[in-house]
Amino acid sequence: MTKKPYYITTPIYYPSGNPHIGHCYTTTACDTIARYRRMQGYDVIFLTGTDEHGQKIEQKAAEAGVTPKEYVDEIVKVFQSLWKRMNISYDRYIRTTDDYHVETVQKIFRMLYDKGYIYKGEYKGKYCTPCESFWTESQLDENGCCPECHRAVIEAKEEAYFMKMSPFADRIEALLTQTDYLQPKTRAVELVNNFIRPGLEDLCVSRTSFTWGIPVDFDEGHVVYVWVDALSNYISALGYVNDAYQDFDEYWPADLHMVAKDIMRFHAITWPAILMALDLPLPKHLAVHGWITFNGQKMSKSLGNVVDPFLLADRYGADAVRYHILREMALGADSSFSNEVMIQRINSDLANGLGNLVSRTVAMVDKYFGGTLIEERQPGEFDAELVAAAEGLKPRLEELLEKTQLNVMLSEIFQVVSRANKYIDETMPWILARDPENRARLATVLYHLLEMIRMITVPLSAFMPETMLKVWEQIGATAAETAYETTAQFGVLPANVTVHKGEILFPRIDTEKEIDELNQLILASQPEQTPEEPAYKLQPLAEEITIKDFAKTDLRVAKVTACEKVKKSKKLLRLELDDGMGGRQVVSGIAPWYTPEDLIGKKILLVANLKPAKLCGVESNGMICAADLPNGDVRVIFPDEALPVGAKVR
Ligand code: MSP
Repeated sequence: MTKKPYYITTPIYYPSGNPHIGHCYTTTACDTIARYRRMQGYDVIFLTGTDEHGQKIEQKAAEAGVTPKEYVDEIVKVFQSLWKRMNISYDRYIRTTDDYHVETVQKIFRMLYDKGYIYKGEYKGKYCTPCESFWTESQLDENGCCPECHRAVIEAKEEAYFMKMSPFADRIEALLTQTDYLQPKTRAVELVNNFIRPGLEDLCVSRTSFTWGIPVDFDEGHVVYVWVDALSNYISALGYVNDAYQDFDEYWPADLHMVAKDIMRFHAITWPAILMALDLPLPKHLAVHGWITFNGQKMSKSLGNVVDPFLLADRYGADAVRYHILREMALGADSSFSNEVMIQRINSDLANGLGNLVSRTVAMVDKYFGGTLIEERQPGEFDAELVAAAEGLKPRLEELLEKTQLNVMLSEIFQVVSRANKYIDETMPWILARDPENRARLATVLYHLLEMIRMITVPLSAFMPETMLKVWEQIGATAAETAYETTAQFGVLPANVTVHKGEILFPRIDTEKEIDELNQLILASQPEQTPEEPAYKLQPLAEEITIKDFAKTDLRVAKVTACEKVKKSKKLLRLELDDGMGGRQVVSGIAPWYTPEDLIGKKILLVANLKPAKLCGVESNGMICAADLPNGDVRVIFPDEALPVGAKVR
């Protein structure tokens, strides 16, 4: 039997800077779907790649003093190594600088021209350089800026080719409102009201003011507009009007394009219009998700709020990061990234939930049966309900997959994980183990648990591929026993299955310690924001004093010998100091900016004759000198290390 083709794509990314966790969402989501579809028996082509032309890249390369191609070559390597690190199983990687793609785009441009959809005119309008988008006056935001990124737009005027859009307006409106193309469909309203109803404007499809693009082969000086170039990747990668691949007839139309909301318009309007003009079938679905935000803003390099996915994958493993981002993002809404929530989820769902279920089950088979179950069985209470919960999973997951609701799929799977953990509490195997009479019942309970783990981990392997292989090794499941069809069948593992105790799947994380470390690392990895740093607000000069007045303040060099956080306080650190006078304890409100490790062994400046006071119930004998940064952060004053402990400031 020939397999059914399935074609899924991510957007192709701009290699204008290194990838961040926001870029990982679509790619990880598509990877999960691609893996799931392969398990279901589809012949999948999963495409990703990079969108390498355009003015922004040209500018960045010039700033770096290299050619645009040299510039993108370096960043493409980083993207590809990230996808490797995240176990992204793409089948094809397209670069818009690849020859076959250039050939396809040039041919498409000519075909549209020959068919009379493209004509030459003069473009006058607003252009957003970072987004590489033209906007009409009415589309600009309330400040007259780009409606997508809200940065300033420039007046652009140049000879240009245009594509007629009005012939496609009615068909596009019907596509968006009357078919299942858009997921979620609720997004159709904004597209229809903002772009289609006011009258679809013709699209400017060539530029002459820069050269880093695909040349229009019949009119020197024009390069193809980046979005026409970029969108065409979805068909050039299959071999449409090029000889690099021969998959177009079999795999087009795409089953699923997945994108974030900021590029929905191009995929919901521009792309269908191009395909209609070429007389090609339209993709089956366009799934649009929100952004991963950080402190309420879209994560982006220029905002200095990017979370480095390499760092997260190295600390927690690619699967934990994949799980977290897929679990948090509901299709259609934004998802706020938070280290706290990520660690809580890893601890609660992965370490305590799934990890615990596997390690407890395997440990009990090991302890009570020497690793190999006996074949005798004795059914009992709770068994049937548990099996029903796992058997019901497959059809439910398939229904959710059709709607690209990956977060709900995970939540359904983890409900069964909880149900299985509850079954352990209900059946209490450790009590059964006390009486040899109960051996058959004990074996039945443990077999049910092993089967639950197997049935849950088959679909989960699309989400967390690395870990599920380890689980199958531990529960003694073979490849045939973890085939997709078996996910709704109870009783697939042999009755006398042998388990293999293995490593802990998800070690529990010490939340507080981890958050401190992570925040420091993330801060350290942000690009310097010097131009945007707030200016320091100078404090008014204090009242004049005499040297005698100053001499009343006894400022001394002291050394931090020990330091810890004050319990019940987020701000306070308790420091033990060597002050050259027998030592003392000081409490200081610098915990948001320093960890105890930052301070131990360091010399500081101490106000040594300050009246003792109690802070949060802890006595403080003096004060540590510090000053404010312009952004309100605090820095301790560290004196020259050569100054001896006890030295007096004069
Ligand atoms: N090159 C275009 C896409 C052309 S597709 C024919 C582009 N590239 S991009 O690198 O800027 O963005 C690629 C995708 O990543 C877009 O869907 C974009 O919305 C998504 N994301 C970038 N930052 C994101 C978040 N913080 N959160 C979620 N997705 C985000 O657009």
